[in-house]
Amino acid sequence: MPTPTSDAFVDWFRQCTPYIHAHRGRTFVIAFGGEALADNSLPTLIHDIALLHGLGIRLVLVHGARPQIEQRLAARGAEMRYVNGIRVTDDAALECVKDAAGSARVEIEALLSMGLANSPMAGVRIPVASGNFVTARPLGVLDGIDYQHTGTVRRIDRQSLRQRLDNGAVALMPPIGYSPTGEVFNLSAADIARAAAIALGADKLIYLTEAAGVTDRDGQLLSNLLAGDVDALLDGEPRPGEDLAQALRAGADACRGGIRRVHLIGRRDDGALLRELFTRDGAGTLISDRPFEELRPARIDDIPGIHELLRPLEQCGALVPRPREHLETTIDRFQVTERDGTIISCAALFCFPDERMAELACLAVHPDYRQHGRGDRLLARMESLARERGLQRIFVLTTQTAHWFRERGFKPAGLNDLPLGKQRLYNLKRNSQVYIKPLGQG
Ligand SMILES: CC(C)(COP(=O)(O)OP(=O)(O)OC[C@H]1O[C@@H](n2cnc3c(N)ncnc32)[C@H](O)[C@@H]1OP(=O)(O)O)[C@@H](O)C(=O)NCCC(=O)NCCS
Repeated sequence: MPTPTSDAFVDWFRQCTPYIHAHRGRTFVIAFGGEALADNSLPTLIHDIALLHGLGIRLVLVHGARPQIEQRLAARGAEMRYVNGIRVTDDAALECVKDAAGSARVEIEALLSMGLANSPMAGVRIPVASGNFVTARPLGVLDGIDYQHTGTVRRIDRQSLRQRLDNGAVALMPPIGYSPTGEVFNLSAADIARAAAIALGADKLIYLTEAAGVTDRDGQLLSNLLAGDVDALLDGEPRPGEDLAQALRAGADACRGGIRRVHLIGRRDDGALLRELFTRDGAGTLISDRPFEELRPARIDDIPGIHELLRPLEQCGALVPRPREHLETTIDRFQVTERDGTIISCAALFCFPDERMAELACLAVHPDYRQHGRGDRLLARMESLARERGLQRIFVLTTQTAHWFRERGFKPAGLNDLPLGKQRLYNLKRNSQVYIKPLGQG
């Protein structure tokens, strides 16, 4: 971990670097509604998107056009009809859809062609590719309502999309699809984004929503959500607005379709997209199929992460140095907390069944994640594992953390109180203190 300097720029740049590396060459699908096209923050959003392209991210942009379509209909003295929250696209509405999607495309292309003067991306040329990537079918007649030219995605032309991305272009997808019979359908941008992300096996699907993200009852932003919890959220209070509900539904579907990370980010919050992608705690709501942070048994592929976590603590003498081979042979004794793909805490339990005792070792929480009860949770897990094995006492050898253990029920003890096997290995030079805790019922 780099040491903090007094230079905020250098610190900031160093903190971003792992994300820059991690995102390069990845595919992100970014969806936003027509509202984003209608206000004056569009150039800033497109600048941020251009920046992502400049960092080597393969981008697919999917845009909606609802306000533009409604505006055009209003000019004709008509309006869009909605039944059960789904639009009914009649002939007049379809004309407006084509018109609105066409001009949205021109506008986005123009912004991406600007060379981004007066921005960090000045002089960069960004090719944009659009086309008939989406095959659609009519939604048809539901409960007696004919939705006419409103359609759903039938297939995404993955190969053509990939080719455009391989050539370095940003792919742009309007909310439109074509049927093999040559008809045009009005589709939802959320649905296209979901289908495109799944077809491409995208690394991220990002919805830029009108709301700042998903909030709980107290109005607090939920930074993580499991796909399995989305249904309850859609039916619960406060009920998400239609734009957020669509993104939630499509996002949860995308997770089930294999997309590991779906982000819902408020588009009105300037820079939220960059914060979500390049800072540790992000700015929106992340939906994933697996818990964002999970305490679980360690696996062999966790060894590099555990090693990275323990090394600085071994160097400063807080923990006994353990060679990597030792980690490899004892990995099944470890529990780890994985957060967003990184190991942020670990502990190991070594059992002495004859003495009905267990040793708690290698307890460590990454410095950036301390003071939030993770140490406590890990200790509780290790105690419960020891109890499950019928053990009665847990001990620890410590040089710098005695008080932490004392505050959690450990009592000072002598070398003679340890299992014989452990006494033989005791390192006199290290002079660790022995602490023991009876396990009780838990
Ligand atoms: C000890 C450790 C695992 C605690 O992790 P954590 O996630 O911060 O733990 P929790 O959030 O559950 O507890 C935090 C509390 O412990 C206290 N604490 C942290 N380190 C301490 C120490 N060395 N001695 C006494 N108390 C300590 C904190 O001050 C805090 O209490 P407070 O909120 O009342 O101030 C973590 O500090 C760590 O990894 N330390 C380095 C490795 C180490 O010493 N491991 C033990 C090997 S025997």
